[in-house]
Amino acid sequence: MDLPVNYDEAQVPAYVLPNLLRLDDGAPVDDATAWRRRRAEIVDLFADQVYGRLPADAPYLHWRVTDHTDGALNGLATRRQVTVYFNEGEGGPHMDLLLYLPADRQGPVPIFLGLNFQGNHAIHADPAIHLSTAWMREGGTGVVDHQATEAARGAASSRWAVETILGRGYGLATIYYGDLDPDFDDGFQNGVHPLFYAKGQTCPGAGEWGAIGAWAWGLSRALDYFAHDNDVDATRVALMGHSRLGKAALWAGALDERFALVISNDSGCGGAAISRRRFGETVGHINTRFPHWFCTNFHQYNGNEDALPVDQHMLLALIAPRPLYVASAAEDLWADPRGEFLALHHTQPVYRLLGHTDLPLRDMPAIEEPVHGVVGYHIRHGKHDVTAYDWGQYLDFADKHFYTTFL
Ligand code: GCU
Repeated sequence: MDLPVNYDEAQVPAYVLPNLLRLDDGAPVDDATAWRRRRAEIVDLFADQVYGRLPADAPYLHWRVTDHTDGALNGLATRRQVTVYFNEGEGGPHMDLLLYLPADRQGPVPIFLGLNFQGNHAIHADPAIHLSTAWMREGGTGVVDHQATEAARGAASSRWAVETILGRGYGLATIYYGDLDPDFDDGFQNGVHPLFYAKGQTCPGAGEWGAIGAWAWGLSRALDYFAHDNDVDATRVALMGHSRLGKAALWAGALDERFALVISNDSGCGGAAISRRRFGETVGHINTRFPHWFCTNFHQYNGNEDALPVDQHMLLALIAPRPLYVASAAEDLWADPRGEFLALHHTQPVYRLLGHTDLPLRDMPAIEEPVHGVVGYHIRHGKHDVTAYDWGQYLDFADKHFYTTFL
């Protein structure tokens, strides 16, 4: 049976958010040291109850550079393609990383990193991008029988402002999310999960990682690789994710403090939006349609959001004191733009506690009137998507933080 959907602000129930600045034992969090303890508590709650724990063991990581070309994109870029393996040999799961670097770079550059939905070949029409042979969801341009064809090249290029990013002095790195875990409910037989099963284990436990956890894990493995790439400034990696991949970016950014800046584009339920608002997509909707995204424990909150020990403002607060950007789209009511804004707004006491004073976000900004402090927010016209407008904001936000804070 289809669950009802509320799109009426007047029908949003009254709710009380869990307190960000109070420890489990009731003690107030009033300095940076106490925040470190609170932060650890919140990470554990999200790991056990929402996304599932990532494996504690470091994987055996190695890689092969399959393409290194200067003068790509009509001379604008160096293109590098790297296959990253997660266990010995080259037979197991692996991810293909596509990296464009500005041709006129002088030394290591800051980069944007994001997972993509349709394969690296879909982010740009560049014919030299390896065509992915991984399983693809049906419905994407050029996908036939779950495989990409030549017709898929550049199919998602409107979502990746490659030339603009390069022109502003940044690199761009991307990975097909299905390399980490194909996005269907197969009981976690494919993707990276089986690499970490204990002897006799056949699927993740109730508090262990689902698909979002695997996608987030892969982003950290990309960062492991960047630490060895002399053209990338691994201390200035801006993580960007759209929609379900925005949820993964937030979880990766929360767990892995090496990410210098995190951007959530229309991430909605289980991403930036407050779950207790039950506006648009709810916990019940998401766990029913995508039972493999979160951990099994999360399913007990279907229709029971008030019992959650966390809400999404706490996920966002885990990014502090690092710069954090949340973006919404006016027609994307399924993702609850107001809930996304509110969650970000509620992080500000944590940023303040950690010494930030650049906190101009107050009421929800009007459409296309972005606010950029240490946290940034905009809501643009239009639908659930990533557009040139969104990238324009992300580049300005990254400039503001990477070139004033770091140089
Ligand atoms: C669905 C899903 C959302 C998700 C979106 C996407 O709409 O319900 O939670 O963000 O897909 O990833 O595009």
